Amino acid sequence: MIDDAHWFSQARLGMFVHWGLYALPARHEWVMSREKIPAGTYRTYFEHFDPDLYDPRAWAAAATGAGMKYVVLTTKHHDGFCLWDSALTDYKATNTPAGRDLVAEYVAALREAGLKVGFYHSLVDWHHPDFTIDGIHPDRDAPDAAARNAGRDMARYRDYLHGQVRELLTGYGQIDYLFFDFSYPEGAASDGAAGRPWPGKGAPEWGSAELLAMVRELQPGIIVNDRLGIPGDVATPEQYQPAGTLKNDDGAPVAWEACQTLNGSWGYDRDNDDYKSPELLLRMLIDGVAKGGNLLLNVGPTGRGELDPHAVATLAALGDWMRAHARSIHGAGPVNLVPPSDARYTRRGDRLYLHLFAWPFGQLHLPRLAGKVRYAQLLGDASEIRMSVSDPHQAAQNMTAAGQPEGTLTLNLPVRRPEAAVPVIELFLEEGVELA
Ligand code: GLC
Repeated sequence: MIDDAHWFSQARLGMFVHWGLYALPARHEWVMSREKIPAGTYRTYFEHFDPDLYDPRAWAAAATGAGMKYVVLTTKHHDGFCLWDSALTDYKATNTPAGRDLVAEYVAALREAGLKVGFYHSLVDWHHPDFTIDGIHPDRDAPDAAARNAGRDMARYRDYLHGQVRELLTGYGQIDYLFFDFSYPEGAASDGAAGRPWPGKGAPEWGSAELLAMVRELQPGIIVNDRLGIPGDVATPEQYQPAGTLKNDDGAPVAWEACQTLNGSWGYDRDNDDYKSPELLLRMLIDGVAKGGNLLLNVGPTGRGELDPHAVATLAALGDWMRAHARSIHGAGPVNLVPPSDARYTRRGDRLYLHLFAWPFGQLHLPRLAGKVRYAQLLGDASEIRMSVSDPHQAAQNMTAAGQPEGTLTLNLPVRRPEAAVPVIELFLEEGVELA
């Protein structure tokens, strides 16, 4: 159970790293499936994988600089390529020009920087000879696909999957977070020519219950996401913002983490300029915290092993804001209070944080807060924001606004919008104020 005090809830912002052979074609991490590239052809990226500029300390520095508290790296993505020195396959970084265990260096760099260590691990594997061809597999349209499936044995793949997860959870010390990806029990598309639906894969194919039990036994404190086809610890909405707090069937709040890309692709995608601005990303982060969620923001390092300049600039811009505003994010969560339009509240202890997505003119009215706030300031520069409470019966006059409904606190804002990407007002609550 992930409660408010858990490191995961306190963190609120993490870095997702999608890195593997697909950084070389540089046109989305699903390139093998999208372009139906057979494993033999895809192997050219294996032969040319030479990340000579790989420096996970630089990744860690970029993450901490942006105010991120954990990092999640793709140990293996759907193409099946392994970044660590697995004893169960030759399809691994050690056998490429990289020539070493890249996960070991990643884990060491994160620990050194005080970051929590996360692994993403693909359940899907388009390289393993026993993984049956299905509707998302690169060979789905191959004329001999059905015949090849006859010789494939998912039980053997399952052993491989479990064995590799065991390696990852026993070879690198404490692992804080495991992000499995993904289940599609409903099946995908159809096999074109014959028009039959391809069967999907989910908990039975992955042996999820057994796999999860092993994970918990090997790493008792670990957090596991919700993509095994059975319940996990954290919900992982992908590429959208939930409309509100998330609840389970009993109405209890659920820990969640929205994973988001910089440009719509997870892997390095050279010609894709569909970038979210730093301001938009910050609004997404704040919106998530206001709804009790985390943001796992993705970067896709290049084939040389570096973060590309756009990612570096975006993270720096986030860091710029976080440097002065992180206390409205780290350790903060939702509050049961409806914010004014274009604004979001978060709460941490006796502080309320009002994030202004648009800067209003002059007065900002906050229902239910009259008498509950002892001091208000602009978070960015700790300059006082003056407060007032109007007589609810006062009628509007030429130069006096009408009184606000009973219980409304009014903030008197400066005309000029502060420079911050998202200005924040910090409200110090009177002792013992209940807002529930
Ligand atoms: C997806 C995609 C993928 C990406 C992931 C991130 O399900 O298959 O490429 O790694 O989600 O959450």
